Amino acid sequence: MLNVVLIGPPGVGKGTQAGILAKRFEMDHISTGDMLRAAVRSGSELGKQVEAVLAAGNLVSDDLMVALIRERLEGDAADTGWLLDGFPRTVAQAEALKELLDELDQTIHAVVEMTVPDEVLVGRLTGRLTCRACGASTHRSRVEEGEQSPCPDCGERELYQREDDTETTVRARLEVYRQSTDPVVEVLGRHYPLRKVSGDGTPREVAERLNGVLG
Ligand code: AP5
Ligand code: MG
Repeated sequence: MLNVVLIGPPGVGKGTQAGILAKRFEMDHISTGDMLRAAVRSGSELGKQVEAVLAAGNLVSDDLMVALIRERLEGDAADTGWLLDGFPRTVAQAEALKELLDELDQTIHAVVEMTVPDEVLVGRLTGRLTCRACGASTHRSRVEEGEQSPCPDCGERELYQREDDTETTVRARLEVYRQSTDPVVEVLGRHYPLRKVSGDGTPREVAERLNGVLG
């Protein structure tokens, strides 16, 4: 059983790699971004509260995020192992996570920091198409011109551009990452094993590197 935190800037490939790893190691993929987008789609009270925050590329409040994560880590994820994608994103969240894990008698076996040059990130994100059904993503360049191609993961035909994947919002998200999330790596590294992996290259090459680090 493996508990992993994948950390890195928007577009580095956390979601793509988390999908591959969760299958391989049979662990629960906990993506806070996916959870928030699902809440927005459902029109729930939470969704209404966070919709504008997501669209602007800002961060949802620490209290709310910690409560969402607590619910998941207290549940079935504890039996299967888990992979956190998009959490923690602030030093306060990192500290709250450490406290929560101590309380639940759980730990993190690896914190994996993924890195890719900024220009690559912007190109990946502004061209990303996301699946409405399963949340997997692909790049516009891989979809035939003028053709509606199915999701590479589940076959669903409806792919859309995330509202926060415009160039302006992508740059704002990268700035938020530098300000709020970069320092989290060092904080987590004080308590748990830290590994650094390049997210450049094909998804398969990156997956091999991650396997090397986690396997
Ligand atoms: P979230 O959904 O977590 O977005 P993010 O961190 O900005 O990361 P992305 O999902 O954009 O990128 P990714 O690293 O998953 O890359 P992907 O694999 O898709 O968060 C969204 C928002 O929710 C936040 O802005 C915030 O408002 C809120 N939020 C979430 N968590 C929060 C928290 N803890 N606290 C407060 N607020 C929170 O890949 C990107 C693209 O590149 C895809 O098109 C993919 O196909 C392609 N690609 C992937 N790998 C490769 C490769 N190796 N080569 C070429 N292309 C590749
Ligand atoms: Mg993602």
